[in-house]
Amino acid sequence: MRLPSLKNLQLAQKLTFFLCLIFALGTIANGTFVHNTVNQAAQQEISSKAIMLMETMNAVRDYTSNNIKPQLKDKLVTEFLPETVPAFSAVTVFQQLKKNSEYKDFLYREATLNPTNLSDKADQFESKIIDSFRNDSKSKEKTGFIENATQGNVFYIARPLAVSKHSCLECHSTPAAAPPSMIAKYGSKNGFNWHLNEIIGSQIILVPAQKILSNAQHLFYSVMATTITLFGLATVMIYFWLQRQVVNPITKISTAVEGLSMGNNFIKFDSNRQDEIGLLTRSIDKLGISLQMAFNRIKIKK
Ligand code: HEC
Repeated sequence: MRLPSLKNLQLAQKLTFFLCLIFALGTIANGTFVHNTVNQAAQQEISSKAIMLMETMNAVRDYTSNNIKPQLKDKLVTEFLPETVPAFSAVTVFQQLKKNSEYKDFLYREATLNPTNLSDKADQFESKIIDSFRNDSKSKEKTGFIENATQGNVFYIARPLAVSKHSCLECHSTPAAAPPSMIAKYGSKNGFNWHLNEIIGSQIILVPAQKILSNAQHLFYSVMATTITLFGLATVMIYFWLQRQVVNPITKISTAVEGLSMGNNFIKFDSNRQDEIGLLTRSIDKLGISLQMAFNRIKIKK
């Protein structure tokens, strides 16, 4: 099938064609822009939540070492209190937070390759992140999305955990150097032989992202549906308006002028339109009258 050439199209069809073209290009450009903006905003929202939680957990860690541990120093001689360990307090505070239904699917991990508390043992995904931090000491943060079977899209933010101070080695170098009360509680197998400045694990926050991303997707679809509907309506309205206001009057004028040229009786349009079509019909009216008069004179002369 051959497409009709543009110059063979009627005025209203030509205009509709150009409107559709502008509409299609506009929709693609607008769609790309809206999609990027909405997605960026969603990702921003997710990552800012994760960063805020990460900073809060670090504040809990600092509070534990700077405020809690010195207070309990004397007690620590006879009894080991995990409450004085930053890792323990951060994980415990986060568990408390998870009781709030809004945060129940969030996760905070102090994933470690050789942990003191085996519940901190890094899984496969966490080990990969830790290895990448160990192989690239300059890298201070990793973020991204992972697919979770139950939660769908999950955002993660990970930062390296390093043996940053000599004091860490009091408990994490050798079982002999560690407080006996700690050995009694945690045993002498795990969480030792760490070295100064070694990256031993990673703090990881997991934020469920599916809901926010789906909302963003819905927002994108509704914006696009509104744009397409409005553009479609505008095109249809412009088509009919052009047909009524321009095409039909011009067709009528052309039929009248054709009749006039063949000597038919001319009927005045008597349009009271103030626009260009009105001007044209009044000119045709004048032309019709003049011609009619001329015809009549010729007839009389005969
Ligand atoms: C007083 C002993 C002590 C000191 C000092 C100490 N830790 Fe620990 N650390 C522990 C214990 C005990 C745990 C396990 C806590 C729990 O039950 O979650 C732990 C847990 C951790 C964990 C979580 C993974 C794991 O092993 O279970 C990290 C990471 C960690 N410590 C890093 C450090 C760093 C870094 C320092 C120095 C800034 C430090 N620790 C100093 C005793 C200590």
